[in-house]
Amino acid sequence: MNNLWGGAVAGAARTLNSSIETDSRMWREDILGSMAHAAMLTEQGILSRADGEAIREGLAGILADLEKGTLAIDMSAEDIHTFVEMTLTGRIGEAGKRLHTARSRNDQVATDLRLYTRGQIEGLLGLIRGAVAAIHDKAVEYAGAVMPGYTHLQRAQPVTFGHYLCAWAMMLIRDAGRLADAKKRMNQCPLGACALAGTSFPIDRENTAAALGFDRPVLNSLDAVSDRDFCVETLAALSLLMAHMSRMAEELVLWSSLEFGFVTLPEGFVTGSSIMPQKKNPDMAELIRGKTGRVYGDLMGMLTVLKGLPLAYNKDMQEDKQALFDGLDTAALCLSVLAPMIGGMQPHRSAMRKAAGAGFINATDCADWLAEHGVPFREAYGVAAGLVRQGKPLEELTLDEYRAASPVFDESVYQAVDLDECVRRRNLPIDEELAAIEAFLQEG
Ligand code: ARG
Repeated sequence: MNNLWGGAVAGAARTLNSSIETDSRMWREDILGSMAHAAMLTEQGILSRADGEAIREGLAGILADLEKGTLAIDMSAEDIHTFVEMTLTGRIGEAGKRLHTARSRNDQVATDLRLYTRGQIEGLLGLIRGAVAAIHDKAVEYAGAVMPGYTHLQRAQPVTFGHYLCAWAMMLIRDAGRLADAKKRMNQCPLGACALAGTSFPIDRENTAAALGFDRPVLNSLDAVSDRDFCVETLAALSLLMAHMSRMAEELVLWSSLEFGFVTLPEGFVTGSSIMPQKKNPDMAELIRGKTGRVYGDLMGMLTVLKGLPLAYNKDMQEDKQALFDGLDTAALCLSVLAPMIGGMQPHRSAMRKAAGAGFINATDCADWLAEHGVPFREAYGVAAGLVRQGKPLEELTLDEYRAASPVFDESVYQAVDLDECVRRRNLPIDEELAAIEAFLQEG
């Protein structure tokens, strides 16, 4: 089995030309697309009922055999479209040769790829939901657990672990929104654009679009076969998703170190060292961080394939799939690991609280107290800075020590610098955040 166009390419050129190693995974989409096309041709009277039925049965048989694993994809075919059509003709004879009427591989591959990507995005949305659910449950459990918030990785101001985790959820919810948006925009059917200029056969493009669950046909035939911006959009959304997962992964690496000790990662997500018996390495988090670069590379590769290509189809575009599939696979794999890793991590309230108690992260609250009692903030800042320089935790200063810095201080400053109180008084709307996350989880 080789190609559909009668000639031959030899040796390395044949390897260069072949895409079946990559595109064979679209067998289901290719068959469903062909079934919709053949049904439409029959309804339009372009194919006879007998041929239409033979094609439908033949394709259904190939689909069933591939699903069962009783038919192996022949990797000597040029691509998956070639394999399906040649297998069909091998099975049903003459009628199989009529399937490609009013179609080109150009509109066919664009259709298959949109169908495949749409399905993959649906799967990813489910995985994102799973990760957000895991984050949500931990956020509820640790809604009140005080921890230091950081800027420049320096202890800055107190927050709660629940609030921190909600930030992660917000990032992923936006990622889901971007993917859903890309899916919506790509949901138009290229079939009927044929090679680039449509066809003179009386086809019904609305028919095939509806049969395949598309919102409508792609309007412009040149655009239909040359547009791969849906691949770029998907990879851009995946790149951001990976960036977010990578930031979470980095925090898990930091937090699970002895230096922080904020969390213990679950068994099964850490590895030992072949030489240092005490080690529990956060390999999975590191790999999520590491895989992020690959997906950025996929995005750059995809953009570069498209740069400067004249309309409409060019064979360069066959290179779209490796990048897209790699990005989809990598993101799905990382989400599948991240969700249970977060679900199984054991946070340590006391370590977080201890870290929050050192490093003067309530200094702003001390300055705010003075500002609330009439001292201009810039002056109040100076007084609090002076207290910090004394090196004693603000909770432990005597009232005399406070008064020496500013006569405005009274007993109530102790409440202001109490860590729980610092967190409670801040406008951190944890309940609203959790409600927003729950609304997202219910949408699905
Ligand atoms: N394998 C090709 C691809 O992925 C299918 C389209 C081939 N079209 C063509 N005119 N040679 O792009």
